[in-house]
Amino acid sequence: MDKNEAVEDFMQRIEHYRQNYQSMDYTHDKDLSFIQIFNQGERFLVNKLAGHLQSRVVYYLMNIHVLPRTIYLTRHGESMMNLQGRIGGDSELSPRGMEYAKELSRFVKSEKIPNLKVWTSELTRTIQTAQFIDGPKAHWKALNEIDAGICEGFTYEEIAEKYPEEFAKRDQDKYHYRYPTGESYQDLVARLEPVIMELERQENVMVVCHQAVARCLLAYFQDKSSEDLAYLKVPLHTVIKLTPVAYGCRVEFESLNIPAVNTHRERPANTDLNRSKDDAMATVPPVDQLEGETTTLQNPAEEPFIE
Ligand code: G3H
Repeated sequence: MDKNEAVEDFMQRIEHYRQNYQSMDYTHDKDLSFIQIFNQGERFLVNKLAGHLQSRVVYYLMNIHVLPRTIYLTRHGESMMNLQGRIGGDSELSPRGMEYAKELSRFVKSEKIPNLKVWTSELTRTIQTAQFIDGPKAHWKALNEIDAGICEGFTYEEIAEKYPEEFAKRDQDKYHYRYPTGESYQDLVARLEPVIMELERQENVMVVCHQAVARCLLAYFQDKSSEDLAYLKVPLHTVIKLTPVAYGCRVEFESLNIPAVNTHRERPANTDLNRSKDDAMATVPPVDQLEGETTTLQNPAEEPFIE
């Protein structure tokens, strides 16, 4: 669009707002709670703030910005435990995972991203994945994978055998289910709040994390419900580019074309506590099943762009 036309269009938009909005009046409205932001955060006026939630809203508004930037989200490369279908733990990358780490650094170079910061969890597989990327790195404990408690290091089959009721309870309500001595997705969302707030403050960042963590971050930027969150598809060896745009976030999935195992388990049809082991295992991907090998994936299950 021609620049002058764009300015004209924008001014008209503001004029439409003016006709529909009612201005606050500092004399008449002085007893109401309100927050006024001047020039996109240059100055804030906070009037009659009441309670925890309102102060959180102010805190949030003070941390967001509208500068153009992209957040790059990826899981670690395929790990040795991924090859065995085991969850949790702190294993090293597999040879294919190491290949992904190298390809990821080439990808970052080709994107020519100004002032890129790289964040990983404190676990070996994310640190190894980020090792070849040129840029300042920070390691966040808050980005560590969901803590599976007594099921850490198990395969889904072992959980189905040893703790069949726990496994079924998780399938009944995956978001709220908390592993004994471990965490739920709901716990994870709370743990990630400081990371999200810091992400909002930053410009270009690459976050190298884990399946459950990536689901939470993706759900935040895509405004997904808690029900959808725990089943979002985040394949290995894929970079997700999140670019905030007006009223939404553009989401692009880019596979770096290095084969990796599929670690996504869909919710099975039967979630009864006394179901058979076959029913519990119905959606567990075989350990040797590879992710799709297409070049540029649009989000496999979701729309690529939301408003
Ligand atoms: O536990 C580790 C997994 O990466 C999370 O997968 O929540 O779908 O079982 P899940």
